[in-house]
Amino acid sequence: MFLRHLECTACGLRHDWNQLQNLCTACAKPLFAHYDLTGVGRDLSPEILAGRPAKSLWRYREVLPLPGEAEPVSLGEGGTPLLRAPRFGELVGLANLWIKDEGQNPTQSFKARGMAVAVSMARYLGATKLAVPSAGNAGSALAAYAARAGLEAHVFMPNDTPKANVIECRETGAHVTLVDGLITDCGAEIARRKEKEGWFDVSTLKEPYRLEGKKTLGYEIAEQLSWELPEVILYPTGGGTGLIGMWKAFDEMESLGWIGTKRPRMFSIQASGCAPIVRAFEAGATSAGEFPNAHTRASGLRVPKAVGDFLILKILHASRGGAVAVEDDEMIRATREVGGAEGLFVAPEGAACFVALRRLAAAGRIEPDERVVIFNTGSGIKYPECYGGA
Ligand SMILES: Cc1ncc(COP(=O)(O)O)c(C=O)c1O
Ligand SMILES: [Zn+2]
Repeated sequence: MFLRHLECTACGLRHDWNQLQNLCTACAKPLFAHYDLTGVGRDLSPEILAGRPAKSLWRYREVLPLPGEAEPVSLGEGGTPLLRAPRFGELVGLANLWIKDEGQNPTQSFKARGMAVAVSMARYLGATKLAVPSAGNAGSALAAYAARAGLEAHVFMPNDTPKANVIECRETGAHVTLVDGLITDCGAEIARRKEKEGWFDVSTLKEPYRLEGKKTLGYEIAEQLSWELPEVILYPTGGGTGLIGMWKAFDEMESLGWIGTKRPRMFSIQASGCAPIVRAFEAGATSAGEFPNAHTRASGLRVPKAVGDFLILKILHASRGGAVAVEDDEMIRATREVGGAEGLFVAPEGAACFVALRRLAAAGRIEPDERVVIFNTGSGIKYPECYGGA
């Protein structure tokens, strides 16, 4: 294993990797995992990767945290297809559009990546009871991976979370608590009770290894595009873990000499009813205040305050990207358009990116022949309430 230590993203303080950690003990900001990349580079290369089977994120084991003797907790996460989207591309005037279809993960969302790695590490480090506040899909993923690991899962979700997520959590053995409030209220409830209950808090970015699982999105698209990153990435942003993770992966791959210095323009897509990052980006701010009265049917985007706000904003600025807010009815309408054009039933969070794409292309902020990757982070099948069912 090449993981060496954890380091605070704000104050730089080092923390041991080999005990359970949450936020920085000095300043309460997220911790990043640091690797001996020189060592990784001796054992792993694009050529070696090419000879490994696809269909699991554990093919990037050298840049993941779990010690070699430990068996990952796995349900077949990662290795999702990067699909060309010629018909939707034509509708919006783009010749080189791709969709990373994360709806094909276990529990039908990209949350499986983060939870596979976080639960593997939590079990290795001795945790027995895991707790998470969730907009829906993170809870489903934790429930599944905790069950697989033989650990307890305690999932706290707003009481209007999509029913499919609530049912899925219960049927995979989690203790589910519905909270009359938002995901931030769910997080506060866990914080109040975790010490007494003996829970390890796996809230996104308050635990360092979900990010490591999500960063494999970055390794995968690089590998799937023959180690040449796209010009533009659109990512539906709640807590922003995938966006931050991909950016970390790009830096690691550059250190490894697998890619150059060129980076995609990164765009955070949010819902108009909950757009803290869009508001902060437009104001030129380096952190985002809590978005008041947060509401959107794209439950994964209903995150009024993200712990990693300053990291997301730094990436949007550094990449010369941006942030776009989309109305709920636009994303719901776009779902059928994408479905009819490309054969994918996307989650409303993913659909939001297609609305934003059309707007960015029409405004000339994306050139017709630029290579664009859209992240469809989950499957629409989990959201019957949004699509006239249930
Ligand atoms: C389908 C879907 N897309 C996007 C997001 C937002 O992800 P992140 O918190 O990494 O920004 C979520 C989070 O719950 C989600 O479930
Ligand atoms: Zn710190």
